[in-house]
Amino acid sequence: MEKKPHLVRREFPPRQVPALSLALLLAAVLLLNALLYLYLSEPRGSTGRAESQPGLCPFGHFKLGGMKNCSPWLSCEAMNREVRKLKRVGEGAVKKVFLSEWKENKVVVSQLTNPELKEDFLHGLRMLKSLQSQHVVRLLGFCEEQFTILTEYHPLGSLRGLNETLHMPKYKAMNTWHRRLMLAIDYVSIIRYLHNSPLGTLVMCDSNDLDKVLSQYLLTSDFHILVNDLDALPLVNRSAGRLVKCGHRELRGEFVAPEQHWPYGEEVPFEDDLMPPYDEKTDIWKIPDVSSFVLGHVEGSDIV
Ligand SMILES: Nc1ncnc2c1ncn2[C@@H]1O[C@H](COP(=O)(O)OP(=O)(O)OP(=O)(O)O)[C@@H](O)[C@H]1O
Ligand SMILES: *[C@@H]1O[C@H](CO)[C@@H](O)[C@H](O)[C@H]1NC(C)=O
Ligand SMILES: *[C@@H]1O[C@H](CO)[C@@H](O)[C@H](O)[C@H]1NC(C)=O
Repeated sequence: MEKKPHLVRREFPPRQVPALSLALLLAAVLLLNALLYLYLSEPRGSTGRAESQPGLCPFGHFKLGGMKNCSPWLSCEAMNREVRKLKRVGEGAVKKVFLSEWKENKVVVSQLTNPELKEDFLHGLRMLKSLQSQHVVRLLGFCEEQFTILTEYHPLGSLRGLNETLHMPKYKAMNTWHRRLMLAIDYVSIIRYLHNSPLGTLVMCDSNDLDKVLSQYLLTSDFHILVNDLDALPLVNRSAGRLVKCGHRELRGEFVAPEQHWPYGEEVPFEDDLMPPYDEKTDIWKIPDVSSFVLGHVEGSDIV
């Protein structure tokens, strides 16, 4: 009688301890999983880029930052009704680019500048529709009749501003060889994606010097690269033996690949019909120069 309460008292703790430690262990494993998940998803950006990837919306739909559901691409009517232009943020040969507002979201309206280039504009729009992926700027709507395209806004602008951005106090911590190597990998991944795209092998023409190349890409706020300008993207069809030419004129610029140069010397005037076509390898010549720009001159980037 004396021992019983004692025994009872001693019997409980051993039973409770496994239950308690099991619960603790489970909690620890869950916590570790959560931390690991957060850590692994961090380089892709903690802003939830993964969940807002266009791939997770059906074709013809998009999702932006705070939106719960996928919305269909905006039509001419919706754009005229709901989008307000704020200010011009860029201009190229083909498009004028305006920072705009749509339902409290910052967006970009691109409009054809020169009616002679409407084929390029419409080609760019077709490519944008077909190539929506983690590598391509998100399409939010378009109006073919008015030659207008609506895309997501990226405040850091084109890749051309990379150096200046990385020297801003706010982004100084990003200026490491590791981050910059990640960007270079992004760039190469985009080229690989275009060469193996759902439409076939596409060549990134319109990139005859460094500045031109950089202006076709955007830098996202979570430090990734997206391709933005898809106006000059001809298709190589190997099985049909069809190669491409980047335009009908003689190309000039430091990035013009050897096979893109007029092969018949100064004496023979350039003639498009005589110019031999080429394939996607013209994009590969540029990779060292672009990578070198992206890596820049930070501690360690010379070793990379
Ligand atoms: N979504 C965006 N967010 C922020 N800036 C943008 C965006 N889209 C375009 N821009 C800016 O506008 C510039 C011109 O855009 P884009 O390259 O589409 O025009 P373009 O007329 O096709 O140019 P090109 O002369 O190369 O053909 C870009 O280099 C970039 O600086
Ligand atoms: C990068 O930008 C900084 C500040 O704007 C400037 O001092 C530096 O010379 C630039 N470097 C290159 C390689 O352009
Ligand atoms: C390539 O050309 C062949 C024959 O013309 C065609 O059947 C095929 O669909 C083309 N491939 C692509 C990717 O366009």
